[in-house]
Amino acid sequence: MTKHHENRKVIILENAEKVAEFTTVKLIEIAETTIAGTGRFTVALSGGKTPVTLFQKLAELQKPLSWDRTHIFIVDERFVPFDSEESNYGMIRRILLSRVKIPDENIHPIRTDTGSSQESAEKYEEELRSFFKTPLNEFPKMNLILLGMGEDGHTASLFPGTAALHETVHPAIAVSPPGKTEKQRISLTLPLINNAENIIFMVSGKQKAAVVRDVLEREIELLPASQVRPGKGNLFFFLDEGAGSFLFRTQS
Ligand code: 6PG
Repeated sequence: MTKHHENRKVIILENAEKVAEFTTVKLIEIAETTIAGTGRFTVALSGGKTPVTLFQKLAELQKPLSWDRTHIFIVDERFVPFDSEESNYGMIRRILLSRVKIPDENIHPIRTDTGSSQESAEKYEEELRSFFKTPLNEFPKMNLILLGMGEDGHTASLFPGTAALHETVHPAIAVSPPGKTEKQRISLTLPLINNAENIIFMVSGKQKAAVVRDVLEREIELLPASQVRPGKGNLFFFLDEGAGSFLFRTQS
């Protein structure tokens, strides 16, 4: 691989179940190392279908994560109430957070009980800045951000061809996804994502094979997922055989 991929690791596993298992192990490893070093672990979780099995596994661990030391943030959210089927936080709470002993103050959802998605994004920015104590000219540093990838190359709620990709000031913003019926969303931005210590993309399914190749090998800049390049952090792609099936070069 070319030299700017020194901190990138691509692992292809047999199926989606194995991707979830592998991610669980990696997440625990990062959490334990980070907690041993700094006393706390900050992680931003994505919605979508892919991480559901991971969340189930985390909820059912025989030796639970140190939940009292773990702080959960949300990568992106639709501007809908938490009890909506479309709420990412609603899903994460149902499948994971309601089943583990995590203190309420360790959960940092993107609030949607506001007047607008813009207001939600502003409130989330305040929440992030006050928790991480970051000055206005810096971005919070998460220990881990978990991302998915859409067939169009979007990640978080950062869609191809949208102004959100050029954000340089705010860690969270309101976005209007393409497509008239789509709900307004709130998303973490690229500068925050790229400031993380670790980023894990989980991608599964043959329908994602072309976009995975376009991001990992053709490095098509127009695809938001190609713009995820942490400066100093680690970038992991955990793929199943379907998602990795168009990759040509040997990955490691
Ligand atoms: C969301 C996500 C989004 C997701 C991709 C992949 O809330 O939908 O944050 O970026 O990760 O669309 O979604 P799937 O895992 O469902 O394929």
